[in-house]
Amino acid sequence: MEKSFSFQTNLLHNKWKIDEQTGAVSVPIQHASTFHQADFDEFGKYDYSRSGNPTREALEETIAELEGGVRGFAFSSGMAAISTAFLLLSKGDHVLVTEDVYGGTYRMITEVLSRFGIEYTFVDMTDLHEVASHIRPNTKVIYVETPSNPLLKITDIHGIVKLAKANGCLTFLDNTFMTPTLQRPLDLGVDVVLHSATKFLSGHSDVVAGLAVVKDKELADQLYKLQNAFGAVLGVQDAWLVLRGLKTLHVRLEQSAQSALKIAQFLANHPKVEEVYYPGLSDHPGHSIHRYQASGFGAVLSFRLADEEAVRTFVQHVKIPVFAVSLGAVESILSYPAKMSHAAMPKEEREKRGITDGLLRLSVGLEAADDLIADFDKALSYVKTRPEAVSR
Ligand SMILES: Cc1ncc(COP(=O)(O)O)c(C=O)c1O
Repeated sequence: MEKSFSFQTNLLHNKWKIDEQTGAVSVPIQHASTFHQADFDEFGKYDYSRSGNPTREALEETIAELEGGVRGFAFSSGMAAISTAFLLLSKGDHVLVTEDVYGGTYRMITEVLSRFGIEYTFVDMTDLHEVASHIRPNTKVIYVETPSNPLLKITDIHGIVKLAKANGCLTFLDNTFMTPTLQRPLDLGVDVVLHSATKFLSGHSDVVAGLAVVKDKELADQLYKLQNAFGAVLGVQDAWLVLRGLKTLHVRLEQSAQSALKIAQFLANHPKVEEVYYPGLSDHPGHSIHRYQASGFGAVLSFRLADEEAVRTFVQHVKIPVFAVSLGAVESILSYPAKMSHAAMPKEEREKRGITDGLLRLSVGLEAADDLIADFDKALSYVKTRPEAVSR
């Protein structure tokens, strides 16, 4: 990648722009599961596609360059990437986790890793003192999501990295909401960056994929071993779809983020909306930290209506967004964390974390912001006013 070019240009102008053999301007899809070996004493670069495949490698090298790491890994889903990274831990190790972490990650930690003797503590990562107070001698990983899902809480990445390094632990960061267009955690000292590439990186709600990138060569070797051993690799058609999506990442995210800010401002001023969570709003508690560590606020926001009934009315009347699990696509996606992304979390735990029955998450797509605002305004007009909110 050219250092003199901007990130936007490098999304298109990279090693994979032109296929050296044919001049094709799209990465060839190599379906072969196995590769002929000319010599049994020395195998060629590829031998079996779980261990290495040229199409998957194009994606792995591309994401490694975009994140500024030494090596990238492509997995069959974001959860496969996250779970494989957790295999760096061993029995008796302890992990500290963002308290409102993605529901699937919560399930993996509490229901699977726990069975293998890996201990965990959920903490409010916005409070560095709290994080520090929970570090134990056996803490090996601090696991961060910033902005977090679905409350868009901001963690001071630099602060966490300092704490982790001082205590001999690794930092993992789920960068799904920001992508390397807006936030480059490895530059801030994070050890492993993780992605659900199902979201903004691919961008079209047509592929499930996961990525991991590491900065350190030794860690890369360990993660490669685990990728090959566990075997949850990404298929080649899907690797190609992610590569295609990446070409428009910058322009998609820029447009969606502009609309997200407008929509967040509209919702923040609406009497039937009790709270809006978007780091781009200047009164968001993490606004200035986020400005410091990222170059934009992204396209996801959450907002709170009075209760489940209000949510039901709103969802029944809203027309433009799809009402679905997932985020990060060309179409706006409205979701209900309590019953979707965080359904794996017991109600009590959910509510303790602020993921209440009135909370909705919106991933802003590429529709005109004014159309979305008009749609939301109309749908909100059907929502009953909470008696005590009238004077607001
Ligand atoms: C922040 C975050 N991380 C990880 C995942 C899991 O990714 P996947 O669904 O691709 O397995 C998701 C999925 O919604 C997510 O939102």
